[in-house]
Order: sequence, then C-alpha cells, then structure tokens
Amino acid sequence: MQTIFRCHSPYTGLDTWLTDHNVKNLLLVCGASAAGLKINEYFNTLTERTGIKVTRFSDFSPNPVYESVAAGVDVFRDRSCDAVIAVGGGSAMDVAKCIRLFSNMDSSRNYLEQVIVPNSIPFLAMPTTAGTGSEATRFAVIYYKGAKQSVTDLSCIPDAVLFDSTVLETLPLYQKKATMMDAFCHALESFWSVNSTPESKSFSREAIRLILTHMDAYLANKPEGNEGMLLAANIAGKAINITQTTAGHAMCYKITSLFGTAHGHAAALCCRELFPWMIKNTGSCIDPRGADYLLNTLHEIADAMGCGTPQEASDRFNAIFDELELTVPEASPSQFAELRTSVNPQRLRNHPVLLDEPSIDLLYHRGGMGGEALTPHKKQAKPVPYGVSPRKSGAGCGFRKHTNFRSRALRSIPSGMQSELL
Ligand SMILES: [Fe+2]
Repeated sequence: MQTIFRCHSPYTGLDTWLTDHNVKNLLLVCGASAAGLKINEYFNTLTERTGIKVTRFSDFSPNPVYESVAAGVDVFRDRSCDAVIAVGGGSAMDVAKCIRLFSNMDSSRNYLEQVIVPNSIPFLAMPTTAGTGSEATRFAVIYYKGAKQSVTDLSCIPDAVLFDSTVLETLPLYQKKATMMDAFCHALESFWSVNSTPESKSFSREAIRLILTHMDAYLANKPEGNEGMLLAANIAGKAINITQTTAGHAMCYKITSLFGTAHGHAAALCCRELFPWMIKNTGSCIDPRGADYLLNTLHEIADAMGCGTPQEASDRFNAIFDELELTVPEASPSQFAELRTSVNPQRLRNHPVLLDEPSIDLLYHRGGMGGEALTPHKKQAKPVPYGVSPRKSGAGCGFRKHTNFRSRALRSIPSGMQSELL
C-alpha cells in the first residue's frame, strides 16, 4: 500500500517518513526545475536540521538513457545512500525507479540483462505535474543505444508519495492542460482495456470523477483544484498499473515525435476519435468477455462522466478537448503514412476493439489533421475540412458548446513533456 502525504512547506510529513525509515543518507533524484521549488529549500537545510545527508543526482536528460541511470547507481553506492527520493516529472521518476531497482544488482554487467531482484530501499516520489501517474506504476522507460527499454517490476513503485499542490502553481497553462488530459486518457483507456479488473475499473471511475470535479479549479490554479488533480493523476496511474494503456497511447507517440505535440495532448487527440469509433464498432470486440461486456463498460464510463449514454460521454470528452483550445497539427501525406505504420501492435492487443491499419489510418484522418483517408471506410462520413465548421460538441451533458475553431498552430513544448511513459 502506497502512503500518500499531502503537505506543503515545511513538509513535516516528509520528516516523519525519513525518521520512520531510519534514513541517514538519501539520494535525491531531481530535474533542474526542482531548484525553484520550496522542497529544494527543505533539502538544502535537511542535513543541518537532522543530520541526514543529501546527495543530489540530476545528471540525466528527458528520455533518460541507460548510461545516466548507471551513473546514478554508481553515485548511490559510492555515497552509501540508503534511500531514494524523486522530485520531478516522468524522467526523474524513471531514473529514480531504475536506480532503486538496479542498486542491488551486479554493476559489472548490463543491468538490463540481469534478473531483477526486488529490494526494499525506501523510495518516495514527489510528482511536479499532475498527469503521468508515474509515481503509482511499476513501469519505467529508459533508452539504451537509441532503443526504448521498458523496465517493469513492483520495486519501481515508490513506497510513499508526497503531494505538494503548490508545485503546480507555476506550471505553464498548456502543460497543465496536457498533463490533465494524459491522466484523463489513462483513466479512460484503463477503463475499456481488455485487462481491466473490478479494482482497475474502480480506480478509473474515481480518477474520472476527480478530474471532472477539480478541472475548473485546477485550471484556475486554486489549491484545492491542484491537490485534487494530483490525486486524480495518481489514481489513474494505479489503474494503468493494472491494465496498461490501449490504442490511444499506442497511436499518440508518433504524433508527439512528428509534431512536438505534448504527450497528453496527443493522447487526447487520439482518444476523442477512438471513443465514438468504439461505440460504433463494438461488433469488432476482441475482449474475451464479449461485445456486451464492452458495451456495458462504455455505459459505465458514461455514468462515471455524469452522462446518460456512451455517445454523450464521448461528446463530453470532445467538448473538453475543444474547451481547452488544444490544437490539431496538420499532417502531410507522407506523415500520415508514418503515423499509420507507427503503432505498437503489442499495445493494440490491450484495446478491446480490433484495429487494423485501415482503421488506424481512418482515425488519424478523423482527428482533423488534414487530408483524406487513404482507405475510406464505407461508413465514414466525409471528413470535414479544417476550419469549415466546428464539430458539434457538448451534447447531452450540459457542457457548454465550444466557440473556438481549432488552430493549426503548433506549440513548442518543454522537452521534458515528451518523455511521458505510458
Ligand atoms: Fe500517458
């Protein structure tokens, strides 16, 4: 069971955790952004106040590489550290997870080639965005010789999480929107995943409830909204920790790499097309529990979103995307070709409706990214050219209808946002 501390400076909860675990010498894994946070002051004075030594490790980049992790393991050993604390977003979490995991393994061999030996080194994480839910998952991703390596073990899950809602106050609004939609997609995709369980569904349901409850206050930077969204992202992380993600995430990575679209933004772009498509294609269900089960799940999602039908829930999700004024990149024919062949088939197996290449191509085109689908579907409505007419949205849920056309302007994003994992 993961312990959650909700505290601000002076972080008495963290004092308690360090004392309870008899920590004498901690490794602090943090990105450069941590320097401007109040938690930085806490660690600056920790040795003087308590005698606990602090060794900082920040020598890693977004999309962290194996060599950085190995260097972090060396630091952990050389300094005789006895605990790991991660402060940051997905990259800091990944590095900290792997350092903890590898710290009791054979340093003379490649850690990625060894059998993981679980350990109980105290591990606490403090997320600085509300979205990835990485602090709740058993997954870490690092890169080795340019290839993505997924590391999975229960030892990746921090024993404790510290939520300080004040860290979200200085985030750019776009980053807040994108990370919130990442959490929303985690909850949705986990809900409809073929791997869902009653427990994962209860996490998804609660995450969706929290996101919708706290969205406005979160975007307005109110403390209760920021705190609610941190919890929502964590619970959505617990959901995908059980199920993993599905087609929304499988389809979104190439959008990010081609256009620089933030991870959560790209995932939402995909999910808003997948959701209505799934409603119309439950007959192609590949979940062993059957099409009726899937249809019932879609109704459960609608209920969690306060909507009467799956279509209303899909409309509401779409309306939220538009309300956030998230943009849609425009793809060239060659980029569409890259997109439709980019999707990881392994991850598609988690998706409850069969997705072949023509379907994926169709969904990318429906995303409003321009052009005509190369393989038109018989039931496909003629794509609406961008800017001609906004899609109808918000039907049935009392969500106000959007008034903004989607802009094609691409945004530059902080590089750290491109390293989301799940
Ligand atoms: Fe994600």
